[in-house]
Amino acid sequence: ANQSLFDNHGRKINYVRLAVTDRCNLRCFYCMPEEGIKYVGREELLSYEEMIRLVSTLAEMGITKVRVTGGEPFVRRDMMKFLQALCSTPGIEKVNITTNGTLTAPLVPELKAMGISSVNLSLDALDPARFFKITRRDVFPQVMDTFEALLHHGIDTKINAVVMDGQNTEDIIPMALLSKDHPVSVRFIEEMPFNGEGSHYERLAWNHRRILSHLQAHFPDIEKVPDPPHSTSYNYQIPGHQGTVGIIAAYSRTFCGTCNRIRITPKGMLKTCLYDDGVFNIRDIMRAGATQEQLRDTFLQALGNRAKDGWEAEKQRTLNHPIQESMATIGG
Ligand code: GTP
Ligand code: 5AD
Ligand code: SF4
Repeated sequence: ANQSLFDNHGRKINYVRLAVTDRCNLRCFYCMPEEGIKYVGREELLSYEEMIRLVSTLAEMGITKVRVTGGEPFVRRDMMKFLQALCSTPGIEKVNITTNGTLTAPLVPELKAMGISSVNLSLDALDPARFFKITRRDVFPQVMDTFEALLHHGIDTKINAVVMDGQNTEDIIPMALLSKDHPVSVRFIEEMPFNGEGSHYERLAWNHRRILSHLQAHFPDIEKVPDPPHSTSYNYQIPGHQGTVGIIAAYSRTFCGTCNRIRITPKGMLKTCLYDDGVFNIRDIMRAGATQEQLRDTFLQALGNRAKDGWEAEKQRTLNHPIQESMATIGG
């Protein structure tokens, strides 16, 4: 029988973000340097079997939603077989994916058929030149094909756009307008300092308030709509539009009080917050021969010691201080 899982602050945990690879075929500058990052070796990666064991264990404990992230999930070999296995894991009600959309378009019918009902597509600009400048790769048409395929197959689609001063702020209004004729949620995200180079800003130029003011200046009638429970985004609608617009205060961390998620990195680190150092390496624990009970205890112990929010988690960091990782090694 499935149980419910709570942390030491009484927050219900029902969502795991599984980063299945740190590899990526793009080089988004807010995530990686031009030359890329030093990728994890094959042996160091969690195997598909190990990931299924983890997810099954978590499902028995109360996790019902898995988001597959990366890197880019679809650069890992046999990803479709793995997704199929995830979809058939008892207790897992939702398998969602966050993808850069470069390789995804041809796979959409099969994703739909296996029961994947929601995909988040990273797309930071509608202008091809700005897209190229941000991602350093010339694949804009492939990503737009994915967008169309997702809509065509009736997959619930969210667009993730990281807002960067001097890079894509001119795209904010055109991207918000995608919600006019498409039933899509276009989400503008505060940039976080996970670019793999340890570079930092003193002050975030475009925080959630500025993004909202910018939207309000162009769409004076924009209205707040209810947010789903545990939503990372504050959601709005422009009257008459089919879709919605959202703002994710990822850097300001205003939603930690309702945080419902844990993370597993490609190497098997368990993170109870995006901003923590990682608590345990689950891969090592499994490879050392842990029983199911030991595995469960490990998770329970980690959840009993969770930081109350991303600010506290960041303060408690001992490694990589200040943050030096690439988002591709965490999964967002
Ligand atoms: P849904 O499951 O569809 O609600 O999406 P999601 O927002 O949980 O996941 P997605 O992969 O689309 O992430 C969108 C943005 O939110 C990315 O920039 C993530 O890094 C950021 N994000 C997701 N979860 C957290 C979190 O717990 N804390 C912070 N600070 N940012 C997060
Ligand atoms: N700041 C905010 N969001 C980021 N993402 C990747 N790097 C960053 C960053 N530095 C987003 C991607 C993807 C999601 C998983 O995380 O755009 O949509
Ligand atoms: Fe790849 Fe996503 Fe990082 Fe861009 S943000 S380089 S698409 S992992």
